[in-house]
Amino acid sequence: MEYSRRIVEKVVDEFAKKRQNAVNAADARQKEMYITCPQLEEIDKALSLTGMKIFASTFQGKEGLEKRMKALEKESRDLLDDKKRILKLMGKPENYLDIKYSCEKCGYTGYVGIKMCTCMKKALAKCAYDTSGLGSSLSKQGFDNFDLNYYSDEKNKDGISPRDNMAYVLSEAKDYVKNFGKLKDGAQNLLFVGGTGLGKTHISTAIAKGVLDKGCDVVYDTMQNIMHTYEKSTFAKDEAAALETTKYIDATLLIIDDLGTELKSVFSQNVLYNILNTRIISEKATIINTNLNGAKAFKEQYDDRINSRLIGNFRTFNFYGEDIRLKKARENNAKKRR
Ligand SMILES: Nc1ncnc2c1ncn2[C@@H]1O[C@H](COP(=O)(O)OP(=O)(O)OP(=O)(O)O)[C@@H](O)[C@H]1O
Ligand SMILES: [Mg+2]
Ligand SMILES: [Zn+2]
Repeated sequence: MEYSRRIVEKVVDEFAKKRQNAVNAADARQKEMYITCPQLEEIDKALSLTGMKIFASTFQGKEGLEKRMKALEKESRDLLDDKKRILKLMGKPENYLDIKYSCEKCGYTGYVGIKMCTCMKKALAKCAYDTSGLGSSLSKQGFDNFDLNYYSDEKNKDGISPRDNMAYVLSEAKDYVKNFGKLKDGAQNLLFVGGTGLGKTHISTAIAKGVLDKGCDVVYDTMQNIMHTYEKSTFAKDEAAALETTKYIDATLLIIDDLGTELKSVFSQNVLYNILNTRIISEKATIINTNLNGAKAFKEQYDDRINSRLIGNFRTFNFYGEDIRLKKARENNAKKRR
């Protein structure tokens, strides 16, 4: 399990609010009951007094201490019995005035002893899912519906077909998920290169789901959106956007889709350089998808600082084949006509 600060802070905040809501709700129940039955308030006052009496009694010397304690304990037991009896008479459960947490194991502290409570684990996972930027794609584009039959099995002069190539990419992608968290240096950064509709976004979404299911956070975004957020933050001094940019740096896994579709500028190069460089130094995983093909295309779009990092710190996988988006559209049209 590895969640970035963004996720942890959100969930810790959420839990503090839940605790406060439970306290407020108990206060409200108490207020209401004190009005309908002032005797309850008297009992509560008396109960808090016995607590003080017990404390004071320990200072009155050892002589007769046991007897005094027993008397005080009986006093508070009787008061508690009275309280229960009254609540019962009023048709309420005996713990009606207690603070109620829907997780009784941890009382929304998130921990049972030093172990994280299952409710907090679930909350972290849900938060990571909800804020990944992938939404419903996560359930639509997985390994289970990634079909190799869409790639031709016609072999090239080296005896390798697009299907063989994709089978390799798919198996490496599954291994990536399996080993996520243990991968070092360049092994945790993938660069998926290839033409449109060949499954780059699909396979990176499948990886994202696997990594989320392992209890890590993922941020997915297109290069254009990332640039837009940085522009708002830098030029429009938009505070929300500034806060948003931190997720591209903090995410345990960042997926940058459609690299190369952003407008080429000094600004965009600096942003990309900063993201890549910071993530490489802090050993955070990054997956990049791009249509840019070949060294020439990369050289035209990016300066040496960026290209050197993409070559040196990423494992490159080439995607070959025919546009599956088009193939699927044709299949659907044919089905409709039938
Ligand atoms: N191997 C596959 N099996 C099943 N569906 C696939 C496969 N590859 C891609 N698809 C589907 O084809 C469509 C296009 O794929 P995807 O979006 O992943 O392509 P891409 O390589 O990211 O293209 P682009 O460069 O245009 O972004 C999607 O609907 C995707 O789910
Ligand atoms: Mg894509
Ligand atoms: Zn709990």
